[in-house]
Amino acid sequence: MKFLFESGGETKVILVFKDSSSVECENELFGFLKERNIFKGNCGEVYSHISKEESFLFLGLGDENKLDFQALRKAFFNLGEKAQKLSVKSIGIKVPKFGDLCYSNTNKAIAEGLLQSQYSFDKFKSEKKDKVLLEEVYLKILDEKMDKVKVAVLEIQTIVEGVFLTRDLVNEPAINMYPETLGKAAVDTLSPLGVQVKVYGKKEIEDMGMVAFLAVAKGSEKEPQFIVMKYKGDPSSNEKLALVGKGLTYDSGGYCIKTADGMSTMHSDMAGSASVIGALYSIAKAGLKKNVVGIVAACENMISGGAYKTGDIIGSMSGKTIEVGNTDAEGRITLADALWYAATVENADKIVDLATLTGACVVALGSINTGAISNNDLLMEHIKDAAKISGEPVWELPHDEEYKELFKSHFADLKNTGGRWAGAITAGMFLQEFVNDTPWVHLDIAGTSYISGSRGYLPKGATGVPVKTLFNLIKNM
Ligand code: BES
Ligand code: MN
Ligand code: ZN
Repeated sequence: MKFLFESGGETKVILVFKDSSSVECENELFGFLKERNIFKGNCGEVYSHISKEESFLFLGLGDENKLDFQALRKAFFNLGEKAQKLSVKSIGIKVPKFGDLCYSNTNKAIAEGLLQSQYSFDKFKSEKKDKVLLEEVYLKILDEKMDKVKVAVLEIQTIVEGVFLTRDLVNEPAINMYPETLGKAAVDTLSPLGVQVKVYGKKEIEDMGMVAFLAVAKGSEKEPQFIVMKYKGDPSSNEKLALVGKGLTYDSGGYCIKTADGMSTMHSDMAGSASVIGALYSIAKAGLKKNVVGIVAACENMISGGAYKTGDIIGSMSGKTIEVGNTDAEGRITLADALWYAATVENADKIVDLATLTGACVVALGSINTGAISNNDLLMEHIKDAAKISGEPVWELPHDEEYKELFKSHFADLKNTGGRWAGAITAGMFLQEFVNDTPWVHLDIAGTSYISGSRGYLPKGATGVPVKTLFNLIKNM
């Protein structure tokens, strides 16, 4: 999809608020539609009139005073879908200034909605739908804002590419996407952008002392991989933020085996790591002047004669010992070593981890909000701000010291389960034990990174959440 900043486009888009006249012109056809109550202007409603002489797409924007960026993204997503159905290749939009909404962000939201409508994961379909993609979008924008808008639209294109990359990695079934191929995907997508990617194999992981990570990995025939991705956008600074992603390329539950239903989407248990790769892709491509290191401990949680068992007490890179109360609480064990590495080997100043960590988080927040736990209010505020402008809601969970009682172990330092209650909180607080007091935020994306049906511009399956939040966090820090 190409954006052109001038008048043009074969099909003219007319923006309409609910219960009001067209935003931009007194169109004859619009008067007719309104009179007959054919088109109401509800947010995201599209009415098309395509003919040889003149073509229009009417797009409803709902209540004028309720319009925000998320509404714009959704509305223009619908417009993009409709254009595709109608094989419309070229559209023209005159973008007005809506109330006090920032004008570049308005254009960004419009561009995002249209771009989002072009995602599909159909590589395994023998019969591909014949799709005519929307190729040209003419944005007639206010002259005095030209430079800023161009930059903003280019930026959102780069962000959406990262989101799509993440979705592709997550949607890929585990038969193809396993630790080695995940590592290769990181190399293939990031090294052309100047990100230094190193992938360590089992021997090197042993040498680094990551015994917790290895305990989870040892039930699988697939070799674990430890992936480190370094982006140095600000060589003059030593400051760096670590993005640590849970990278379970498959989670069967191990001996505490999941149900068939529970297991069916567990190829998506590496969504955290895919978000790290997607975010780094966008960050590097946009050339953000920040230093970021991505860290992923990638493995499968499987069953075999060599797999770890409940009751096992395992060590970790940090020296802390962990009693395995449940082999299905494997993510926090792999993250224990990845976080310790981020804090002590990389010496990151800040750490954000992304993990499809708990079903409990899905019970609490559904697929709308990502759950968050932090040891640092300021970093948490930055995350909340970034999440807000990205349209990816985050909800902070409490983390009172008292919860720690729940994952104490009688024989070891910690236990990897905290019982039935407050499962998302105890899992997050378990991770906190391995960040060595580095300012840290944990994002539990179990509900938000992969969804069972499409919602707005998010498709069924992998959503790419929270790539936009990570990009905006790092950009604005
Ligand atoms: N990967 C799962 C969490 C998950 C569940 C992600 C549903 C996405 C959708 C995680 O490894 C897990 O199995 N967690 C257990 C922890 C429990 C055994 C303490 C859970 O949530 O049931
Ligand atoms: Mn599990
Ligand atoms: Zn898992």
